[in-house]
Amino acid sequence: MNVKKPDTTRISGNVDAPGHVTGRSVYVDDIPVIEGMVHVKVFDSAVAHGKISFLDYSAAEQVPGIIRIFSAKDIPGENQIGGIIPDEPLLADGEVHYCGQPVLLIAADTADAAEMAIRKIEISFTPLPVITDPREAFKLGQLLSPSRVFTLGDARSNLAHCKYVYSGKAETGAQEQLYLETQGAYAYPTESDGIKVYSSTQGPTQVQRTIARVLGLGMNRVEVDVPRLGGGFGGKEDQASSWAAMAAMVSWILKRPAKCIPHRMEDMRMTGKRNPYSSDYTIGLDEEFRIIAFEATFYQNGGAAADLSPAILERTLFHATNSYHIPNVKVTAHSCKTNLPPNTAFRGFGGPQGMFVIEAAIDQAAKHIGVDTTVIQRKNLMDDGTEFPYGQIVKDSEAINSWDELDAHCDLEKVRAETVSFNAGNRFLKKGFSMMPVCFGISFTNTMMNQARALVHVYSDGTVGVSTGAVEMGQGVNTKMIQVAAESFGIDPAKIKLESTNTTRVANTSPSAASSTADLNGKALLDACNQILDRLYAFVKTELTDNEDETVEIKNEVVYINEEATVFNWTNLVRQAFLKRINLSAKGHYATPIIHFDKSIEKGHPFAYHVYGTALTRVTVDCLRGTYTIDSVQVMHDAGISMNGPVDLGQCEGGIVQGIGWMTMEEVIYNEEGKLLSNALSTYKIPDIYSVPAKIEVQFLKNEKPSMAILKSKAVGEPPLMYGIGAFFALRNAVLAFNENAPIPYSAPLTPEKVLMGLYG
Ligand code: MTE
Ligand code: HPA
Ligand code: MOS
Repeated sequence: MNVKKPDTTRISGNVDAPGHVTGRSVYVDDIPVIEGMVHVKVFDSAVAHGKISFLDYSAAEQVPGIIRIFSAKDIPGENQIGGIIPDEPLLADGEVHYCGQPVLLIAADTADAAEMAIRKIEISFTPLPVITDPREAFKLGQLLSPSRVFTLGDARSNLAHCKYVYSGKAETGAQEQLYLETQGAYAYPTESDGIKVYSSTQGPTQVQRTIARVLGLGMNRVEVDVPRLGGGFGGKEDQASSWAAMAAMVSWILKRPAKCIPHRMEDMRMTGKRNPYSSDYTIGLDEEFRIIAFEATFYQNGGAAADLSPAILERTLFHATNSYHIPNVKVTAHSCKTNLPPNTAFRGFGGPQGMFVIEAAIDQAAKHIGVDTTVIQRKNLMDDGTEFPYGQIVKDSEAINSWDELDAHCDLEKVRAETVSFNAGNRFLKKGFSMMPVCFGISFTNTMMNQARALVHVYSDGTVGVSTGAVEMGQGVNTKMIQVAAESFGIDPAKIKLESTNTTRVANTSPSAASSTADLNGKALLDACNQILDRLYAFVKTELTDNEDETVEIKNEVVYINEEATVFNWTNLVRQAFLKRINLSAKGHYATPIIHFDKSIEKGHPFAYHVYGTALTRVTVDCLRGTYTIDSVQVMHDAGISMNGPVDLGQCEGGIVQGIGWMTMEEVIYNEEGKLLSNALSTYKIPDIYSVPAKIEVQFLKNEKPSMAILKSKAVGEPPLMYGIGAFFALRNAVLAFNENAPIPYSAPLTPEKVLMGLYG
């Protein structure tokens, strides 16, 4: 029922693809530079915590090609880049708080000269205690922001009455965003005391605001332009700002063009990652396996500054019960300050960290009770009319539907039987599987951020220029914006040009994040198109009919009145309207209706809607080597009515693989001194073509209901990542099939090394 293959009838695929495969797409480092450009390199701290007791860069300044070296005291405005909480200097001033923290900027004629100079800088530190563990930080009272608690019903007293009660600990590791294009920015001074900055950022306005602050300028003097990103994955939502501010500061002071682009190892060392979490939970069930109560405490490893961690912490709580209806919940979250680079957004934004814990709790309960985990999962899926712990009432839930459709498609009973019989017949190969339901809230959790604008110009020849606040980072939002304008005007997508994202065309943008970029900017774009259409329709009526009530429409560039073709086509309509001095430009605006949230009581209606889905993951473990393959991931995904099948399918596939990477092989390791050991692609493994699932099968549930989604096409950027969590549990089950007492804690990633220890532990 209701199952539909990805829809490919509208624009099919991604408009950026030809540019990407021919190398013509323009990234920051491809922008032709102005003569006299200065290379900016960062001298960063080699210790994780200490007072700078000695610093001498006079010898470094003598290196040929060095123009100047800048420290905190050279900053013209404020030495502050903290977005949510002002707790992060651009350049260390007296004290350092993590390995990789920027201390000095080297401005040089060449990057080589700058690197030479870096070796001549003398610095020493008075060491201070290094804390890398969030629980230890918590004990010392080191918090980045106030702790948060969401409650529903009364978890504590209900736990006392449960037939089954289990407690445990669950942990998830960091994850490097590993965008193909590293961070970076290119800046040059403009006339009227302005500065123009090309930045690889998800948040052009955040970059503009930060530069204005650091340089002591009004935001109107700072123009930020973003052609596109070679990936962001959350890593450039906030942390693009420092690189842009560093390029801008050097450019501003020297009055020369300046570029600051770290190479891969610098980027890995200096930037924050997905926040690791360590969590405690207690789950209580009744005799029918209904989850009656759930308690959890999340210790978030925030790193040395708040960055986005307070917002990420909040989303962990929003997703702490994933797709399940649990009547009694108390979840507590602490954002702990440690001496690591400030951790930051990564696809899912704290949601995956929260979901892993409830899945671990359910799995533990099932294993102890002796029932299949899927039985408890299925039994407790949420249905319409129940309440999320944050007060929103569940509406249009696809939790049960996506599970049952997937079950109907894959035949879970058969999968179970096949797995059991395979394992009985094989001594050193064991199979495992898991189901992973996902429910992800769509909207920025901060209500105020759910707004966007768009600027549309219809040129007098009928071609169209579109600017929005959306940043293209590979997710296909450019394509979706062109589709929205083309569908709205009823014209050929080839007539539409999408402009780069620029703060002078579209101001006060929210970052492209929270999977909401297409919804927010698309709706603003619709508003702009509708304003122009209204004027054009009125013009058609004055020209062709006396009857105000007749309906005008444009389809395939032909203008219709009451379904009858007129003399006008799009091009001559635009031309005639222009001659009659009709305004052919419009600024659109959108602010998501309905949503609100009251932090003082932690209740409200924060999300426009939720995206649902379910994944079945099947794996095989080689029990001699500890190596494994992910045999298949089959997904029933709630896409609404996808406006672009191939783009949305790509988002699902990419998200699934990235989630599996986080759960199985991507291991960020810092030593006790807070130094990053997995600091290059030789030591940090991400999924490659050999380790991706042999089969990824995504089916879209067709769902006509999501009116808050752009053209009813639901947000898709982040939710699929959480299907990857299923890989952890499938692997764990396979190991248990070999060794039923395998000591495998709920601690991700489950690397081959940990699998091997589990097999023989
Ligand atoms: N897909 C690609 N190819 N590259 C990216 O950087 N970022 C992800 C997701 N998919 C990303 C991606 C993240 S973290 C988010 S929030 C969304 O895309 C942002 O885009 P959207 O709001 O248009 O979905
Ligand atoms: N998601 C992603 N990014 C964000 C959010 C969110 O909910 N809030 C602030 N930045
Ligand atoms: Mo995505 S983590 O909201 O950039």
